[in-house]
Amino acid sequence: MKTIDAIINRKSVRTYTGEMISDNDLNQILTTAYASPVSMGKYDSLSLTVITSQDWLHRLDQNAQQIFNVSQSMLYGAPLFIIVSTKLQETPADNAAYSNAATIIENMNIEAVALGIGACHIWGVITALNQNKALIKEMKLPESQTPVAGLVLGQTDEKYEQRHIPMDRIKTQTLD
Ligand SMILES: Cc1cc2nc3c(=O)[nH]c(=O)nc-3n(C[C@H](O)[C@H](O)[C@H](O)COP(=O)(O)O)c2cc1C
Repeated sequence: MKTIDAIINRKSVRTYTGEMISDNDLNQILTTAYASPVSMGKYDSLSLTVITSQDWLHRLDQNAQQIFNVSQSMLYGAPLFIIVSTKLQETPADNAAYSNAATIIENMNIEAVALGIGACHIWGVITALNQNKALIKEMKLPESQTPVAGLVLGQTDEKYEQRHIPMDRIKTQTLD
């Protein structure tokens, strides 16, 4: 698949068969995370948590459902959830830390599309997780890191089809 097709035809997949992706595909997706550009090359300010344990997926989902007061899964029954964590300093510089995480997520998401794997960028479960310090402690993240972004992945019956992207979707100005 051409890169442009993977980017344009990407969509948030919210239905999963429950079937796990292959180790090869997971490694390829993780490689795109490690290939991501990171502000000032500070790769050690970040960590990834690859979650396939049904128990952990359930606990993270339950925590989010409680906090958002919803009854449906916020991880959509996907068999794999990758969390990006980073050091935050509570200063405007955190913008770079969040951007690093988003860049990593998008790289992995586009690779998932290229491999025909379902994926969806997840914020809700992450913000709920940040309200449960005990749960974060159990994740044993590198010292002083905070979960900031997530991506669910898994096999899906959904197809990535040609999408029309409206050119007026995001207000765009030119300065001349
Ligand atoms: C930062 C960010 C956070 C998101 N968080 C969630 C989420 O928690 N749950 C969800 O179902 N979708 C989430 N999404 C997906 C968006 O809702 C989706 O990308 C948007 O509606 C456009 O649809 P599309 O991805 O199908 O093109 C998130 C997307 C981004 C970029």
